[in-house]
Amino acid sequence: MSAMPEQPGQETDGRERVQKVLARIGLGSRRANEILVREGRVRVNGTVVELGARVGPDDELSVDGVVYSTRPDAVTYLLNKPAGVVTTAADPQGRPTVIELVPAEPRVFPVGRLDLDTEGLLLLTNDGALAHRLTHPSFGIEKEYLAEVEGKVSRRALRALREGVELDDGPTSPAKASLVEPGLLRLTIHEGRNRQVRRMCEAVGHPVVRLVRSRIGPITDPKLKPGFSRPLSGDELLQLQRAVEPRR
Ligand code: URA
Repeated sequence: MSAMPEQPGQETDGRERVQKVLARIGLGSRRANEILVREGRVRVNGTVVELGARVGPDDELSVDGVVYSTRPDAVTYLLNKPAGVVTTAADPQGRPTVIELVPAEPRVFPVGRLDLDTEGLLLLTNDGALAHRLTHPSFGIEKEYLAEVEGKVSRRALRALREGVELDDGPTSPAKASLVEPGLLRLTIHEGRNRQVRRMCEAVGHPVVRLVRSRIGPITDPKLKPGFSRPLSGDELLQLQRAVEPRR
């Protein structure tokens, strides 16, 4: 098989100039990226690099300590998941999956999961480092939910949610909880336990009737219709990366 023609800035082993990778990530203008490199803020596998350094798809590129994917085909989609769609790549029972609601190539996987009946925002990516940070509890990314619940929500129930609720797998961390309107709670948590919001609401006496995730860290999109997805913009990706920056 003949070798692919070499692209400017790219070598046949898939390694590219650091400036080219930075331009793709979309941190700023070419000039701004050059300044980042000259100021010693760009590292490859932990080592500060100079302009012209080569980066491969398996290298770890970081700017100011924030790790970015170097894959040329890195993509992250935001999906508004409808109820009745499973958050897996394939379902043995043949139910519709979230993977069918995003472009087939390049292959992506869901970041965390939403229950079958939960609606709302879900990220799908092929960037393993980003997915790890978004799901690992130590990075504590906030997730906001709107929960339609049974019963009249008392101040006591709200206080209990804010202080942390005792569940069968241990107490939850304090949540942000407010009443948007009668029967509609806005809850913000940064853990990701199985059916956590449903179990928290149930524990304070208000079973969930409908659950919608409305925000993941800085990412929200009230205009994205159920069943539709779109790639994150460079700016959103940047905000998301910043939100999961290791605490120093
Ligand atoms: N909490 C739940 O109970 N269900 C979800 O799908 C997400 C969070």
